[in-house]
Amino acid sequence: MSSSTPSPAPAPPSEPTGVSLGTYDRRQSYQWNYDHVPAAVDIPVPEIAGAWTFCGQPCRSPLGVPAGPLLNGKWVLYYASLGFDVLTYKTVRSIERPCYELPNLVPVVTGPLRGDETEVPSCGEMNGSWAVSFGMPSQPPEVWRRDIEWTRRELASDKLLNVSVVASIQDGWTIDDTADDYARCARWAAESGADSVETNFSCPNVSTADGQLYQVPEDAGLVAERVRDAVGATPFVIKVGHVTDPEQASRLLEAVVPYVDAIAMTNSVAANVRLADGNLEFDGQRRGICGAATLDASLEQTRLFADLVHSGEHDVALVGVGGASSADDVSSYLAAGAESVHIATAAMVDPLVAQRICAEWGSRHGC
Ligand SMILES: Cc1cc2nc3c(=O)[nH]c(=O)nc-3n(C[C@H](O)[C@H](O)[C@H](O)COP(=O)(O)O)c2cc1C
Repeated sequence: MSSSTPSPAPAPPSEPTGVSLGTYDRRQSYQWNYDHVPAAVDIPVPEIAGAWTFCGQPCRSPLGVPAGPLLNGKWVLYYASLGFDVLTYKTVRSIERPCYELPNLVPVVTGPLRGDETEVPSCGEMNGSWAVSFGMPSQPPEVWRRDIEWTRRELASDKLLNVSVVASIQDGWTIDDTADDYARCARWAAESGADSVETNFSCPNVSTADGQLYQVPEDAGLVAERVRDAVGATPFVIKVGHVTDPEQASRLLEAVVPYVDAIAMTNSVAANVRLADGNLEFDGQRRGICGAATLDASLEQTRLFADLVHSGEHDVALVGVGGASSADDVSSYLAAGAESVHIATAAMVDPLVAQRICAEWGSRHGC
């Protein structure tokens, strides 16, 4: 349910006896976390009764993990074992890219964000929301392509592997070069066995100095068409940032809908982060705020797009992303028009969140 205050911080993980549950350690580097992956567990996850789909493919539940927490195939298998049914492999590129320096995750204190906030204060302890600063690192393509092949072989056949890709824009590139780079990565992901490919359009756009791709409909449409040509019939999702203007949403939708199966929203809500010493974190650059503080904004955006999809009779699914951490949040996204609901922050804080949501769902809706 959309509320005027963000959901409280997820309860700390209550480990079932004899099961060891690891989490991403935000005090360690991306590479450390890439190398230290918790082993898959064997825990009971109640079924969420219903006929669920993701991009038209049958799925055991509407629950997924969006691009971010799943750094490689072992992380995919761990979260699959925790009850998630759509597993998104963290965004990869056509070239190797290092991660930004620590800190990569900075907890913040804020109420629901609307997108017009200039800054939010940091805090020492995680309270449901954080600023995310990784810079979309990527292993070299030969590494992630092999890993995706391995992951698809190891993953249960009733779980879906979604692979997120992004272009690595170079000086002097045109939008055509960017489209080709997206298409190259998307084709590699599909060839490696991805059940669906997701392109992150929350990335700088080359034909406008300051915009992002999802903010420039004609360029987004051009890239989407090129990716569709590259992946053939493989289900294709685009991930977009925060959109509040109906006119902008409508133009984006019209531009991409001929080529895509689904649109995932919202990547994050951007803001500066003010440290306790008065300075701005990240050299004063804005970062995406993720977690509970974005729930209302993402739900509102899902409703906006769902209305436009309905009125335009468009054939495209929506994936709700942002701030979900409970069965009520999942219900709200489904009621808003989402086909599937993906959870990053709450799943990183509480690895048992899918199990808890499934149990809450059963007690509210019956099994
Ligand atoms: C640690 C972390 C890393 C992320 N990395 C990516 C990424 O590589 N690509 C992407 O499209 N989104 C990325 N995101 C954004 C998430 O996919 C998601 O849109 C966002 O976290 C909102 O969901 P949440 O509130 O459940 O965290 C990342 C988020 C987190 C928390």
